[in-house]
Amino acid sequence: MTLKAGVTGIGSALPEHVVTNKDLEAYLDTTDAWIQRRTGIRERRHLNGTVTLTDLAAEACRDALQDAGREAADIDHVIVATFTPDRLMPGLAPKLATVLGTDGAGAIDVNAACAGFLYGLDQSAALIESGRVQRALVVGAEALSRVTDPHDRGTAILFADGAAAVVVEAGAFENGCSPFVLCSDGEHGDLLYAEREERLLRMEGQEVYRHAVERMVEATREALRRADLTVDDIDVLIVHQANQRIIDAAARRLGVPEEKVFANVDTIANTSSASIPLALHHAEQRGHLKPGHTVALAAFGGGFVWGAGIVTWKERVHAGA
Ligand SMILES: CC(C)(COP(=O)(O)OP(=O)(O)OC[C@H]1O[C@@H](n2cnc3c(N)ncnc32)[C@H](O)[C@@H]1OP(=O)(O)O)[C@@H](O)C(=O)NCCC(=O)NCCS
Repeated sequence: MTLKAGVTGIGSALPEHVVTNKDLEAYLDTTDAWIQRRTGIRERRHLNGTVTLTDLAAEACRDALQDAGREAADIDHVIVATFTPDRLMPGLAPKLATVLGTDGAGAIDVNAACAGFLYGLDQSAALIESGRVQRALVVGAEALSRVTDPHDRGTAILFADGAAAVVVEAGAFENGCSPFVLCSDGEHGDLLYAEREERLLRMEGQEVYRHAVERMVEATREALRRADLTVDDIDVLIVHQANQRIIDAAARRLGVPEEKVFANVDTIANTSSASIPLALHHAEQRGHLKPGHTVALAAFGGGFVWGAGIVTWKERVHAGA
C-alpha cells in the first residue's frame, strides 16, 4: 500500500463575542427575519478585546493535536489559510508554530479566500505523499470582522470570525485525501474583493451566489470522478458555509439528500477559510461525521477560486508510517 495523507485529528475555536441579527438591526437597515430567510444565519462571532487571531488559531490547533494524540513537536509543517492575519507581514503561521511549541516547523500562510482551507489541505497532502513532510497542521483562521464594512448590509450580515485545524499525517491509508480539484478564474475578481487602500470586502452578492453554486457542483462531480466514486458514496457533504440557500442549492443539484448535508451557517455565518474545518468539527461533535465516512468538501471564494475534494475521515488503516 502506497503512502497516503490522512486526517487524524481536528479542533476548533470561536471568539466569545456573539453578534445576533437583532444586534445588527440596531444600526443596519435590515431585519432578523430578512437575514434568516435569505441566508439562514441567526448569529455570528466576532473577535474583540485583546484576543488575537493567532490566539484563536492556537486554541484550535491544541484541540486538534490532542484529538490526534500528537504533540506540537511531532508537526513538521504548518499551513495557515487566511487573508486576515494579525499582521500584514510576517504571516500568522510562523508565530503560531512557535506558540504551539513545534520544533521550528516549516510555516506558511496561504491566501485562497474562502477556498483557502481546501488549497492548504491539498498542499499538505501533496507534501506528505511525496515524502517531504511527515505530519502537518492545516489551519483555517479568519477575522473577517476586520475587513467588513459594518454599514454595508449586503456583507455585514454574512461575515464572521473563527478558527479550526486538522492534523494530516502520512500513513498506509486505503483512501486518505483523494486528489483535489482546484480551480481559478481571475476574470471575476471584481465581484468579491477588498482593495489594499479601503481594506473592506465588497461583493456583488447575487452574481457570487450564482457562480458559487455552479462551480462547487462541477468541482464536486470532478472530485468524485477522480476518486472513482459516485454521489451515492458520499456519507457527508460539507459545502463552504456562505449561505444556507447556496448549501441547499448545491446539494440539490448534486442529488445529495438533506440528511447527508451538514451545515452550521446558522450560528457561525461565513468564516471564509475557517468555514469548512469548523463545519467538519461540529459535524463530528454532533455525531454526523464518523471515522471511515466518505466526506465531500467543496468551497468557493473571491478570485474566483474554488475546489472540491473527497476525504476518508480519520481512517484507521495501518496509521503511523
Ligand atoms: C448577499 C445575499 C444574502 C443577498 O441576498 P439576495 O437574495 O441575493 O438579495 P439581493 O442582493 O437580490 O437584494 C434584494 C433586496 O434586498 C436588499 N437587501 C440586501 N441586503 C439586505 C439586508 N441585509 N437586509 C434587508 N434587505 C437587504 C437589497 O438592497 C435589495 O433591495 P432592492 O430590491 O430594493 O434593491 C446573497 O446574494 C448571497 O448570499 N450571496 C452570496 C454571498 C456569498 O456567499 N459570498 C461569499 C462567497 S465566498
